[in-house]
Amino acid sequence: MVDLVGQYKKIKPEVDAAIMEVMENASFINGPAVKKFQQHFEKYLGVKHVIPCGNGTDALQLALMALDLQPGDEVITTSFTFIATAEVIALLKLTPVLVDVLPDTYNIDPEAVEKAITPKTKAIIPVHLFGQSANIHAILKIAQKHNLFIVEDTAQAIGADFTCPESGNTKKAGTFGHIGCTSFFPSKNLGAFGDGGAAFTNDDELAEKLRVLANHGMKVRYYHDMVGVNSRLDSMQAAILDIKLSHLDEYAEARQKAAAYYNKAFSVTDKIQTPVTADFTTHVFHQYTMVLADEVDREGLQKHLVNRGIASAVYYPVPLHLQKAYRDPRYQEGDFPVTEYLSHHVLSLPVHTEMTEEILKEITGAVLEFVEG
Ligand SMILES: Cc1ncc(COP(=O)(O)O)c(C=O)c1O
Repeated sequence: MVDLVGQYKKIKPEVDAAIMEVMENASFINGPAVKKFQQHFEKYLGVKHVIPCGNGTDALQLALMALDLQPGDEVITTSFTFIATAEVIALLKLTPVLVDVLPDTYNIDPEAVEKAITPKTKAIIPVHLFGQSANIHAILKIAQKHNLFIVEDTAQAIGADFTCPESGNTKKAGTFGHIGCTSFFPSKNLGAFGDGGAAFTNDDELAEKLRVLANHGMKVRYYHDMVGVNSRLDSMQAAILDIKLSHLDEYAEARQKAAAYYNKAFSVTDKIQTPVTADFTTHVFHQYTMVLADEVDREGLQKHLVNRGIASAVYYPVPLHLQKAYRDPRYQEGDFPVTEYLSHHVLSLPVHTEMTEEILKEITGAVLEFVEG
């Protein structure tokens, strides 16, 4: 689905030198490379504070911990996301409240969010799925009205821009709520050579709390003011990320070009619904995810593609409310029709920074050959 070797080769001299520098000064934990990346990332996102941490899941967990939520408090998110979003809610003994997504963008449905609010609701986690921002303006309005926290899961949409339909102001996705979170998993748009993540905020107090929580709840060495965790971005990953950050916008452009090629190629068939970009956001295409018509045999298509040496993936085959570990008498099959429909009909095609017209031609040709039969 990605070509991380090809991407590395293009920036090899810079990356190798940065790794060597970390090795030579042996500042593996909290070294200068971490601070440098943090500052560059703050500037890129236009936020006051970035708190680097071990991975995107930790960033979400730290965010919920920093908000002082209590067991039983309800946190609203979508049933159509990667498990990490709901996992951290459950781990902290909070109650995940799931809602459906919109059929065109696959992002959280603000109307469903409002309907799901109860006196126990404390926070909303909108997920900016596949590379475009959810309707954060609508979510912010709901949160303000009901006095709720917003933690944005921006693991898949780092670098996307959201434009407020009222003010016309544009800011980076993930920087509207109280805390934004992202992942530097290698295949993410801004991917490390291992695990990594970050939380970000404009709130000084929350930033301080996030830093302390990520460092064993400790401000002064060996004095623990709160129960925290150990979650760090190591210096080697930070050095690599700092280089990749300077290429992030050009990476997004390469992904957008590939997506545009797919969209055009698939416009000839009504058996494929190509991804829709909402008019308030840019799309950085972490995934190129299409929806297949009922009559297309998705498994058959995947097998056909494998025979041509082409990868494809289903994100996500089982909605959260139907996952074994998350079964809950509050939810039944059929409760989230859009999510359930998508889980049976979506298919993601390779989209990355190294795609050539030749590769795209081969993939689109193979897909069309199967669906048009
Ligand atoms: C939507 C979403 N949230 C959270 C995460 C968790 O990130 P990580 O794998 O770095 O823990 C991911 C990444 O896989 C993700 O896609």
